[in-house]
Amino acid sequence: MPKVLISDKMDPKAAQIFRERGVEVDEITGKTPEELMAIIGDYDGLAIRSSTKVTKAILDAAKNLKVVGRAGIGVDNVDIPAASAAGVVVMNTPFGNSITTAEHAIALMFALARQLPEADASTQAGKWEKNRFMGVELTAKTLGLIGAGNIGSIVADRAQGLKMKVIAFDPFLSPERAIEIGVEKVELDQLLARADFITLHTPLTDQTRNILSAENLAKTKKGVRIINCARGGLIDEAALKAALDSGHVAGAALDVFVQEPAKESPLFGTPNFISTPHLGASTSEAQVNVAIQVAEQMADFLVSGGVTNA
Ligand code: MLT
Repeated sequence: MPKVLISDKMDPKAAQIFRERGVEVDEITGKTPEELMAIIGDYDGLAIRSSTKVTKAILDAAKNLKVVGRAGIGVDNVDIPAASAAGVVVMNTPFGNSITTAEHAIALMFALARQLPEADASTQAGKWEKNRFMGVELTAKTLGLIGAGNIGSIVADRAQGLKMKVIAFDPFLSPERAIEIGVEKVELDQLLARADFITLHTPLTDQTRNILSAENLAKTKKGVRIINCARGGLIDEAALKAALDSGHVAGAALDVFVQEPAKESPLFGTPNFISTPHLGASTSEAQVNVAIQVAEQMADFLVSGGVTNA
């Protein structure tokens, strides 16, 4: 019987599905890399979220490992070249948390438009600063999507419901798909010049790293508001801080940071800056979805060789 280790906290549905499908499963979370190396040799599969770092050293110790399953989208915590060299298949669940992440981006857009966190803190401090918190409407504003894949297209749908005009920069977006999802496909410079709100929905790659660099932030419309629920590293954080301080950028909301956990940042305490601790996928619905999907895919692979989302 194949044996899987679940090494990050995961909805119990995952273990249930493994067992139902004839896969033995252990749930052992919170191990140090050394502790994981000591036990990983026993397993055919490793199911993870974002805490476990599947390094070359872990893969070297994983003599029986055939598959790593990421309950989530990003596989940045897996050394893909080392896994490929070792013949280990790496799977993700690209759809299970898309709606949830898109909703978080929309929530942050509203929070920026109406300065909700600062208004809440001020009101609970007994200040009743009704004149301090003048907001902006979303209706008729232009939303610029950087990335119009699974999550970006859901953001576009929700934003259209809010009567926003949606434009998108995404080299992989075909003209037909742009029409289908109701967005105007534009080049990056056009998006920077036209968007009232910019939201990022792209993986971190060599092409997208610092896509909002100091140079590109300078090309944005004065008063732009920026949301990032995708990956830290897409925005140059020092340049964003400078653009917030100068008032060129009117607000920014980051769910993701270059260094995570982000226990400190020059951005913290900046007026009109909102942060959340990588909560994009954190809803009960999404965590059930990704747990079910990862367990189904991994069990299918280990029991009958089926490969999905690898
Ligand atoms: C993902 O890649 O699925 C999200 O960023 C969620 C996460 O890492 O927890």
